[in-house]
Amino acid sequence: MLKGKKILLGITGSIAAYKMAILVRLLIKSGAEVKIIMTPAAKDFVTPLTLSTLSKNPVLADLANNDSWSNHVMLGRWADIMVIAPLSCNTLAKMAGGICDNLLTAVYLSATCKVVVAPAMDEDMWLHPATKKNLHQIASFGNEIIPVAIGELASGLTGEGRMAEPENILEWLNYFFSAGLPLTGKRAIVTAGPTYEQIDPVRFIGNHSSGKMGIALANELKERGAEVTLILGPSSIPVPEFLNVIRVETAAEMFSACTSLFDKMDIAVMSAAVADYAPVTTEPEKIKKNDQTVSVELTKTKDILKHLGEVKKSGQLLIGFALETNNEEDYAKKKLMEKNADMIVLNSLNDEGAGFGYDTNKITIFTRTGGPIYFDTKSKVEVAKDIVNTIIELQ
Ligand code: CTP
Repeated sequence: MLKGKKILLGITGSIAAYKMAILVRLLIKSGAEVKIIMTPAAKDFVTPLTLSTLSKNPVLADLANNDSWSNHVMLGRWADIMVIAPLSCNTLAKMAGGICDNLLTAVYLSATCKVVVAPAMDEDMWLHPATKKNLHQIASFGNEIIPVAIGELASGLTGEGRMAEPENILEWLNYFFSAGLPLTGKRAIVTAGPTYEQIDPVRFIGNHSSGKMGIALANELKERGAEVTLILGPSSIPVPEFLNVIRVETAAEMFSACTSLFDKMDIAVMSAAVADYAPVTTEPEKIKKNDQTVSVELTKTKDILKHLGEVKKSGQLLIGFALETNNEEDYAKKKLMEKNADMIVLNSLNDEGAGFGYDTNKITIFTRTGGPIYFDTKSKVEVAKDIVNTIIELQ
């Protein structure tokens, strides 16, 4: 959700400032671009070096520095959102009164973007009528306030005034940026990649699936506002850090990951190339090449898509894939009905640039309403957009 978002983080003088190292790390992991402004007092609690290293940008603190000045107007215009955390009583009072005596308050006054604050102070300061009045004042300017928590305070007392934890601030930002997106509030699982079924400690039955299509789908669903969990078989394709991933190896592991999550999901996209058969037993020791022939007895794995189709409740959308070499459309329609899916995405190995390993794909989508929808050969990222557009239409 935060991928590519420009976040201007203002840090003021409070013990909670040390937690900003964690917030910056979380924001960068989420794919955001972060610029930091510190008040002079904030530097007593966390070093600019730590924050500039984590944010990959120089930390700004002064309105002017030797021959150059920080363009506070443009900083406020650059940002998609300005987050002031921790917000001290002192800076809060300046914000409420329109005082601008440092870079942070100057940027705040000129910011055209949304501003959100996470106050941090001792309980007595927090409860003071001046603080309440100032908070009320900045809220009336349209600033958002992330509520304080109750807990241990710097004074040693316990009470109201603790800054919201970095994870809660991140959650707030995710929610803010997902508002209005078509899949906001929806939860999705996506399976991707191959599965490996062990024959002995060194050998397995697998397939050529790379996981590219499923990773692109998980990404796209997240971009449209969904909360996504990617259940990924053995794949060497890098997965963006901001995706929530459960790594599995076998069809059985993928089955249990899917079944344990499905009940709470709105959307399930089964794009993994799950092994249809697995060895009945896995040899504990490496099989030696003593005999002329060797046989491995295989047994059917559980069909995840079919199982989810059986337990599916109304309102849940189930999407499967079909990779075919002949009678493609008939098999795709059959899978749609037999697996009680709402959509089948067909790839034909007869189409150039479609299937395993390619960066492109050519798909036809079958749903329970209307005829098949044919698409041209496109990059897997573009194909993911087409699939997610159809999912949104089916919602
Ligand atoms: N699938 C699954 N679990 C399995 C096998 C397949 O969830 N054990 C899912 C795949 O992720 C895909 C769909 O089923 O979404 C189609 O898989 P495919 O192997 O092509 O279909 P099958 O029904 O297994 O039929 P066949 O192999 O005979 O074509």
